[in-house]
Amino acid sequence: MPAFTDPSQQSPSDQALIHPTSAPAFDGALPIRVGVMASGNGSNFEALATAIRDRRINAEIALLVVNNPGCGAQHRAERRGIPWQLINHRDYDSRTALDRDLVDRFRTAEVEGIVMAGWMRIVTGELIKAFPDRLINIHPSLLPSFRGLDGVGQALKAGVRLAGCTVHLVTEDLDAGPILVQAAVPVLETDDHDSLSKRIQLQEHRILPSGLMLAAQRWRQG
Ligand code: GRF
Repeated sequence: MPAFTDPSQQSPSDQALIHPTSAPAFDGALPIRVGVMASGNGSNFEALATAIRDRRINAEIALLVVNNPGCGAQHRAERRGIPWQLINHRDYDSRTALDRDLVDRFRTAEVEGIVMAGWMRIVTGELIKAFPDRLINIHPSLLPSFRGLDGVGQALKAGVRLAGCTVHLVTEDLDAGPILVQAAVPVLETDDHDSLSKRIQLQEHRILPSGLMLAAQRWRQG
């Protein structure tokens, strides 16, 4: 697959250094069949769906699971005709019970792997062990810096000059699994939480599709 992030197309305000810039194409192979988990707005889910629609990546979203009824991700799936299901965490006694249900739904949907695209719940070994190396996450920091909540706020507080985002495999250690792809985003003098978050999100939308294909390379070789 050719690199689909062309730095020359970027305006100065959305400059970023992305590495790696290309990922396997899987041309002629069956599309990578994925599940997606999302809790909120769903812009990363949408970026993935758009990359698939525009044939930048050879994948298909078999199922979106949301945990917040009526969230943006759900509406985006409805608009695009992508199958979605609600797993409301409030209906479960424990994180483990919730994750057991997630495993069931994704197994039934016969996915090869799962993308956590803004899933705002901590996942347990129940899910991680059922899909070893097949669960990926997008995090708004240059890991291993600023794991956990509010990566952007942590970066601003630390005064770093480069912030960014990371697509990584999920392990039981929070935000510490093997890194697939990262984008470094300059922190401007004028930045506040909102402006920096927006520029980082723009890069998330660029690296999530290629991160998925880099993970899929492992799955298909597996
Ligand atoms: C993203 O910023 C991602 O880094 C974090 O949650 C946010 C989800 O945003 N894990 P969206 O719902 O995809 O718009």
